[in-house]
Amino acid sequence: GVQQLRRLTMEEVAKHNKRDDCWMVIYGKVYNVTRYMNFHPGGRGQLMRAAGKDGSKLFAETHSWVNVDMILDQCLVGFL
Ligand code: HEM
Repeated sequence: GVQQLRRLTMEEVAKHNKRDDCWMVIYGKVYNVTRYMNFHPGGRGQLMRAAGKDGSKLFAETHSWVNVDMILDQCLVGFL
């Protein structure tokens, strides 16, 4: 459906650092990865390393070739 994308701060992102409420920043975009958690091929533990944080560096180090836009399109919350 139609979603309102928002401008967000790291302070706001940091509040969502739990498995059942998990946001993270990848390349300036804020994603709610809660529902992706169980589908991440690298596992929940790996994904949780960037919970409530900017995961861009970890993401680039582990799989810079992965198309995050395509996978998490439905999970986009807004922009940093
Ligand atoms: C594996 C997606 C974030 C760690 C993968 C794979 C995908 C994926 C598609 C499989 C890659 C392949 O084998 O070709 C994503 C998406 C992310 C994300 C969409 C955005 C939220 C992260 C973060 C970490 C991480 C923040 C933290 C370190 C890993 C690791 C693997 C992996 C270690 C490799 C597992 C293995 O060796 O088979 N991820 N990932 N990922 N991911 Fe992520």
